[in-house]
Amino acid sequence: MTDIIQLLPDNIANQIAAGEVIQRPASAVKELLENAVDAAATHIQLIVADAGKNLVQVIDNGKGMSETDARMSFERHATSKIKAIDDLFHIKTMGFRGEALASIAAVAQVELKTRRAEDTLGTYIEIENSVVKKQEPCACPVGTNICMKNVFFNVPARRNFLKSNAAELRHIVDEFIHVALAFPNIFFSLTSNGQQVFHLEAGNLKQRILQILGNQYASKIVAVKEETDYMNIYGFVGKPDTARKTRGEQYFFVNNRFIRSAYLNHAVMSAYDEMIAKDSFPLYVLYIDLDPSQVDINVHPTKQEIKFEDEKIMYAFVQAAVKHALAQFSIAPSLDFTLNPEIQQLEAINKPFTAEKEQSAVSSSLFKTFTQKHQAHLIEPNQKSELKHWKEFFVERETTNGKRESEESIETLSPDIQQSFQPQTKNHKLQTETAFQLHNTFIIVASEKGFFLMHQQSAHERILYERYSTAAFGKKIAAQQSLFPVTIELAASDSVLLNDLLPDLHMLGYLIEPFGNNTFVIQGTPADVLQGNEKNSIELLLEQFKHFNSEIKFSKREKLVRCMSRQQSIKAGQSLTQKEITTLIEELFACKVPNTTPNGNPTYIEFKDDYLERMFGR
Ligand SMILES: Nc1ncnc2c1ncn2[C@@H]1O[C@H](COP(=O)(O)OP(=O)(O)OP(=O)(O)O)[C@@H](O)[C@H]1O
Ligand SMILES: [Mg+2]
Repeated sequence: MTDIIQLLPDNIANQIAAGEVIQRPASAVKELLENAVDAAATHIQLIVADAGKNLVQVIDNGKGMSETDARMSFERHATSKIKAIDDLFHIKTMGFRGEALASIAAVAQVELKTRRAEDTLGTYIEIENSVVKKQEPCACPVGTNICMKNVFFNVPARRNFLKSNAAELRHIVDEFIHVALAFPNIFFSLTSNGQQVFHLEAGNLKQRILQILGNQYASKIVAVKEETDYMNIYGFVGKPDTARKTRGEQYFFVNNRFIRSAYLNHAVMSAYDEMIAKDSFPLYVLYIDLDPSQVDINVHPTKQEIKFEDEKIMYAFVQAAVKHALAQFSIAPSLDFTLNPEIQQLEAINKPFTAEKEQSAVSSSLFKTFTQKHQAHLIEPNQKSELKHWKEFFVERETTNGKRESEESIETLSPDIQQSFQPQTKNHKLQTETAFQLHNTFIIVASEKGFFLMHQQSAHERILYERYSTAAFGKKIAAQQSLFPVTIELAASDSVLLNDLLPDLHMLGYLIEPFGNNTFVIQGTPADVLQGNEKNSIELLLEQFKHFNSEIKFSKREKLVRCMSRQQSIKAGQSLTQKEITTLIEELFACKVPNTTPNGNPTYIEFKDDYLERMFGR
């Protein structure tokens, strides 16, 4: 019998191997963006057409390639990033396999223009199906400009397997966001079918996160930062009320590489403990930097799954770091500085694999920070029911009142308020006669066990929010008729918006009638609005509402209520009479959720006697 085994031709072998690396246009996006980052670019543009099916182009201002390197870059296993097997354990670049460009060239038509700063002319290469079609010198800026056209043109089965443009574009945006979040100091833009989707100026990490997630998160994320000999963790986590029902904005980066890890995700979730509802997901963008020898990124072709040398320590550190951040930024408004043995009891720290590991864990600076130096880290959870889940609280109230009233009324609050609900102050005996105003902004009032520091604007926002919510979702607020009805003329788009809001505004005490031609007559306003100020208040409200519009998770009514409570609230800097101060305190503590503003900032901070004593070393 004749022999039957043959070597596959290069282009077929390449195509098969490419299947691992390039599964869809978004895979090419990831590889090309990472190459640009590795080339030390500071300005990276991504251009796609038809969700990348017809074009994925990346233009960078990085170091470019020589003529020979440009040609070599498309060979399989051709890389400038590692030289020996040992280098694999010290990788500082995103790429190391030398497979990405070879894979792309195996399944698409590729055009490359590249020039180094030291060369006068650059190189142009056209390659398709792993075959070079053209190579010539060309004039081009320093950096690299690479196009992948008609992906899978030569593998129709794969091309047909691609999803709808919307789905493929979603994958592309995800990959783009991962790289952009990992490198905030680099400019990135994304243009899809001629429309700019992202334009991200270089900046710091917080700026980059807000550019991507939206500015509305500015006051809703808290910084995480722990440095140890073994590893550093930094980034941001959402306050409990940013938790959503869908798993969305959760990002982990290890040595600047986006990774998926159910295990570390669990560590973060457990740090939120009972602060969020069981089936909701908090936002987080966390970065872990550690010695590359402690991770193996070579376990998956797309490098998104990695293996840690010591997983348990990772878990414990991540969980502790997030807990610390949440506690430090007084997510629970009361500052309670009692020691909590919980962290020391973590299995990972308590029972490391070996005595040696135990020693290294215990001597690591993070562990020490958590056990000795700043005892504030060790915040006692749930003691005195402070962080008890809101539902449990209502069960308690139900039995004491014998009624179900509370459970129903909480339903009228928006879901994220329900989640942030931390009942705790109903029983505080506040001595309102001691209350006084500081800097026309804060109110200080003694309690039985210490004192409360309250922010007058935040407190009033909460009061109005609950009042308007009740009105908007049920009991209408009475309008006060204006003596002199005011006419207001608006731009066409504002007029459409106002028309849309009229029924809700009516519930909130505004009597407004459309008069045709983008004109409206204000017949009455809620009692809180000063007479003579009607026109201004409507204009302001529309303006704020438009800004709020990016928050798609809120209903129209919820947005309106939030805008109105912010707009009508007493501002910082306003002097208050003693009577007003007392009313403010009483009304705040009559609220269902007195301790936070509608968007989750604290309305007050409680200072307890024992903590105060301790501050003085007593
Ligand atoms: N945008 C770029 N600017 C400069 N050099 C580049 C660029 N893209 C690729 N290269 C060069 O081409 C080589 C091959 O790139 P390729 O992406 O195929 O492999 P890699 O990045 O080394 O590893 P990996 O397959 O893990 O991505 C790189 O090692 C680099 O030297
Ligand atoms: Mg690469």
